[in-house]
Amino acid sequence: AGNRTFTMIKPDAVAAGNTGAITKLIEEAGFRIVAMKKTQLTKERAGQFYAVHKERGFYGELCAYMSSGSIVPMILEKDNAVEDFRKLIGATDPTKAAPGTIRNLFAKSIEANAIHGSDSDENAAIEGSFFFAGTEQF
Ligand code: CMP
Repeated sequence: AGNRTFTMIKPDAVAAGNTGAITKLIEEAGFRIVAMKKTQLTKERAGQFYAVHKERGFYGELCAYMSSGSIVPMILEKDNAVEDFRKLIGATDPTKAAPGTIRNLFAKSIEANAIHGSDSDENAAIEGSFFFAGTEQF
């Protein structure tokens, strides 16, 4: 039981062969994998996913990067999932991510930062449904 968050392992981490190591850390931290797959975004779909960042200077680059290779989206479940998962991944900027966090261990830059984590329960539900049908979420 518990509540849910959404994550995706980003193209830099998938290409580097870190999907298994990252997934292991997620499970060891007590998260249950509700849904998971390997897929690739088009630039257009990356733009839809990150629409809240449309006005930011890095938006175009972000959409190009996020569609540059395979990603591994997942829905995860745990008590206090959103907050605990953001602690597990660490700060957006890997130079500021605490030791032992997933971004500290695997991120290459502020953009190619290995992994995404939803920032609220509401966004977790929206983002999870962007990748998974209701019949895939159990
Ligand atoms: P994420 O938390 O998944 O959501 C927004 C993403 O934009 C973020 O991870 C980074 O991949 C990227 N991002 C955030 N800030 C910057 C920045 N200053 N320059 C480039 N990319 C950024």
